[in-house]
Amino acid sequence: MGGLLFSKLPRCAASHFTRRRKMNKPTILTGDRTTGPLHIGHYAGSLANRLRYQDSHEQFLLLADTQALTDNAHDPQKVRRSVIEVALDYLAVGIDPMRTTICLQSHLPALAELSMLYLNFVTVARLERNPTIKDEIRARGFGRDIPAGFLCYPAAQAADITAFKATVVPVGEDQAPLIEQTNEIVRRVNATAGRPVLPEARAIIPRAGRLPGIDGKAKMSKSGGNAIALSASPEDIRAAVKAMFTDPNHLRVEDPGHVEGNVVFTYLDAFDPAQDELAELKAHYQRGGLGDGKIKARLEAILQDLITPIRARRARLSQDRGYILEVIKEGTERARERTEATKRDVVNALGLFQL
Ligand code: TRP
Repeated sequence: MGGLLFSKLPRCAASHFTRRRKMNKPTILTGDRTTGPLHIGHYAGSLANRLRYQDSHEQFLLLADTQALTDNAHDPQKVRRSVIEVALDYLAVGIDPMRTTICLQSHLPALAELSMLYLNFVTVARLERNPTIKDEIRARGFGRDIPAGFLCYPAAQAADITAFKATVVPVGEDQAPLIEQTNEIVRRVNATAGRPVLPEARAIIPRAGRLPGIDGKAKMSKSGGNAIALSASPEDIRAAVKAMFTDPNHLRVEDPGHVEGNVVFTYLDAFDPAQDELAELKAHYQRGGLGDGKIKARLEAILQDLITPIRARRARLSQDRGYILEVIKEGTERARERTEATKRDVVNALGLFQL
């Protein structure tokens, strides 16, 4: 249809039209801490959405190495190594660097500068009330010995999002409070500036919610040993599904089983392309007469199908480190222009001194 329309237009009008359309695309900024290879929780939580938006949005993906340091300052090597790992995962799942800009946080100075500015538009009390921060303080047992960088990362994340003037942020459920806090900072900056220099952003969160670990714990993480990596081998996948938490009271096939809290069904909810059939399977399981082996075999096949092409592309790409570096370099340069422009806008809007 687009082709037909363009063919009727004179050449210059067509190119003007495409350029305008591109500029009107809403902007996405999202990213991941570089602490290790990504897992299928990332896939269900945000990678699948990011793949979907490559054409309809102007999309930036941030390799968040600076943010990764906020709770990994003891292991900067891991953070550095993981930059390539996460970039490989992006490309392996099908992120196309021609359509999505992949960029590196530590090499975008405007993000650090905006973070410093925004820290003046947020209180320590508000940072401590952020539910994501609160949960993580508890989970890591930080107490008052929380690294200041960690406590302040919501302001830095606000800098990430606003530096791109992003209005859409596809993330996992746990990140929703960070977007809310970003918008609070945006409103304060705009109020001080006396004009809307920054747009507010909207989180896009998958309906299925957060994918639990294979052991049924709420959080899937590599460090928790309950994750399935996007680079998992066929044997890893088989072993993970075999070990997966189901219904501990479902001892015999003929017993009625529980679907809620049963990790196999939670994963099937997230990944099974035949959701109608899945509804029937759930009913059968609840009635009794359907064994764990059957549902695990179904899930294993689905996960093998999902991961096999990703693993193959990842293995191929990992042979070409030069290419990965080129992708990150080019993306970071493109992102630098954008983020520097926003920093200038904010400095101007706030009326700060300029030489
Ligand atoms: N906080 C995100 C995570 O834990 C990573 C991240 C950094 C991010 N900056 C962002 C996500 C900006 C969305 C938008 O993985």
